[in-house]
Amino acid sequence: MLTTLQGKVALVTGGSRGIGFAIARALVADDVQVAIAGRTSSALSAARQKLERAEPGGRSRVETVTADVRRYAEAERAVAAAVARFGGLDILINNAGVGVFAEVAEMTPEQWAEIIDTNLTGVYNTTHAAIPYLRRRGGGFIINISSLSGKNPFAGGAAYCASKAGLNAFSEALMQELRYDDIRVSYVMPGSVATEFADGDAAKGADWKIAPAEVADVVRNLLCHDPRSLPSRVELRPTKPKK
Ligand SMILES: NC(=O)c1ccc[n+]([C@@H]2O[C@H](COP(=O)([O-])OP(=O)(O)OC[C@H]3O[C@@H](n4cnc5c(N)ncnc54)[C@H](OP(=O)(O)O)[C@@H]3O)[C@@H](O)[C@H]2O)c1
Repeated sequence: MLTTLQGKVALVTGGSRGIGFAIARALVADDVQVAIAGRTSSALSAARQKLERAEPGGRSRVETVTADVRRYAEAERAVAAAVARFGGLDILINNAGVGVFAEVAEMTPEQWAEIIDTNLTGVYNTTHAAIPYLRRRGGGFIINISSLSGKNPFAGGAAYCASKAGLNAFSEALMQELRYDDIRVSYVMPGSVATEFADGDAAKGADWKIAPAEVADVVRNLLCHDPRSLPSRVELRPTKPKK
């Protein structure tokens, strides 16, 4: 069991806002050295400033990497930047994701590609780049942020639901491939979370939706779980969704 996360190194994709930012903040509070990746450097800088304010002892243990996980070379660069800055990698949080919702008849090939390339291929990209470093440390964690949409498909969500169903299958196969290397793979399937996802308003529904910090809590619990057993899939839903 990781009784302490102190000194571990994590890369959080999509760490500039929403769920990824909440995960990065929780890790920083636990004295983890955290690299956050995203496409927008101004958003990453703003997030870094907020994270540094939350750091114990005021030391800078945050790195930012501008990278689009859809491109293998950029995902590889994000992993390499975390390793270069902090000397290794213990924890990969595959959180970056996009939502475009349209019926298949109306969905353009570009929209389809954006979703699959980010939510599924992007996870392969960072994971493939990270595995050698996790192995070098003798073990680690890969936690994928999926969605309940991966098991509850709905009209207008074909691409998104397919991307998350694919991510669920990817995560389970990966878990079986890496478990004997002491690399623990889990995936979290949240329901509605109060963020700006899919051009949403984080304040809208914040009274009943899951708070990003609650997803971060689940991630923290996965990292600290007794290694004798592996909670490989977690479903997380609002207690009382709006009827
Ligand atoms: N909010 C929900 O209700 C909900 C529910 C279940 C699951 N999820 C999942 O949770 C994850 C995070 O969602 P969220 O609600 O926090 O969304 P969000 O607020 O829109 O944040 C998404 C993050 O991902 C980054 N990102 C997007 N595309 C990227 C790319 N190609 N390369 C690198 N970074 C990229 C964004 O930064 P840039 O735009 O600057 O790149 C941002 O940091 C997603 O995988 C989503 O599917 C969300």
